[in-house]
Amino acid sequence: MIEQDFKFKGVCKNVEKGSVAWSSPSNIALVKYWGKKENQIPANPSISFTLNHCKTTTTLTFAKRHTSNDFSFEIFLDGALEENFKPKIESFFKRIENYLPFLKDYHFKIETSNSFPHSSGIASSASGMSALALCLMSMEKDLSDGLKMTDDYFNMKASFLARLGSGSACRSIEGDVIVWGTHSEIKGSSNLFGIKYPNEIHDNFKDYQDTILLVDKGEKQVSSTVGHDLMHNHPFAQERFKQADVNLSKLKAILKAGDLKGFIEIVESEALTLHAMMMTSLPYFILMKPNTLEIINKIWKFRAEMDLPICFTLDAGANVHVLYPKKNAKIILEFIQNELVAYCQNQHYICDQVGFGACKIKE
Ligand code: DP6
Repeated sequence: MIEQDFKFKGVCKNVEKGSVAWSSPSNIALVKYWGKKENQIPANPSISFTLNHCKTTTTLTFAKRHTSNDFSFEIFLDGALEENFKPKIESFFKRIENYLPFLKDYHFKIETSNSFPHSSGIASSASGMSALALCLMSMEKDLSDGLKMTDDYFNMKASFLARLGSGSACRSIEGDVIVWGTHSEIKGSSNLFGIKYPNEIHDNFKDYQDTILLVDKGEKQVSSTVGHDLMHNHPFAQERFKQADVNLSKLKAILKAGDLKGFIEIVESEALTLHAMMMTSLPYFILMKPNTLEIINKIWKFRAEMDLPICFTLDAGANVHVLYPKKNAKIILEFIQNELVAYCQNQHYICDQVGFGACKIKE
């Protein structure tokens, strides 16, 4: 598939109004996306687990309008008008207008809510942008006259659009393991959209748990978008991009073999490398907090003592994602409750697990 394949090809039916709703999950990267080129093209391939419980539900209501020289929309978070989201949506619409030419013909009401608390420090851009992209795809399907759209194309274009909203959002359409970015050893992989990981995955990785420890619920001092930008002119960028490529090759063998030790090594190294890139950017910045390090050290100590396959990863923030197979959940959850929750803000944590992607809620 090339970019041209995502242009709207049908004829628009005259639909006066309608409403669609989707719920779409968050995802956690194992090999990280950090650094991008123009048009949301990733500097390296990434791979993620789709989550199950952390999700955004979005209802998109649309009504035909008579003037159409600008975008017209309002956005509500948990029922309250949310002006702060407007610039992000406006620039999303600008980026996708080429592929959905009917956008300016409608007024949109976007009503959104997250299953996780708004101020939890969990990025809602992946789940939020993917939910909105899916709603827009349902609308495209309603509007296109005479063209049959396959489910595969629907998901691919939803992922393509979501990417233009927020890169990592393109990995939230399906599950359970998604690859985004061209990789020579992963058939069908593309810089334009996420695909379901096409190779064998050992049972060891089929029911992974992700307990998210909310170390800091505050607003990040540096946004991901700014962080990505700092990878231009970064002294270690080229090596980092090569390393991500190699790590994905290694992970391919690890996922097939069910190699838990190998998995832990790649996943933790990726998390620390992500933060090392931040610390060596100019300007440099640190998103981890003292409690992030306390938790990491406790996990390492517990793993050494108990010989259990528990590990951590981080996204662009202070929160810690604790990853482990379901069969070890009882003892690991006990450890989390007894020893790690004390480092969380207000003792707050979220139990999630690998999931299978977005769900349509209404036509
Ligand atoms: C650290 O997808 O939030 O979570 O494309 O600028 O919206 P934009 O960035 P975003 O970056 C997230 C990066 C990450 C790693 C990852 O999810 O791969």
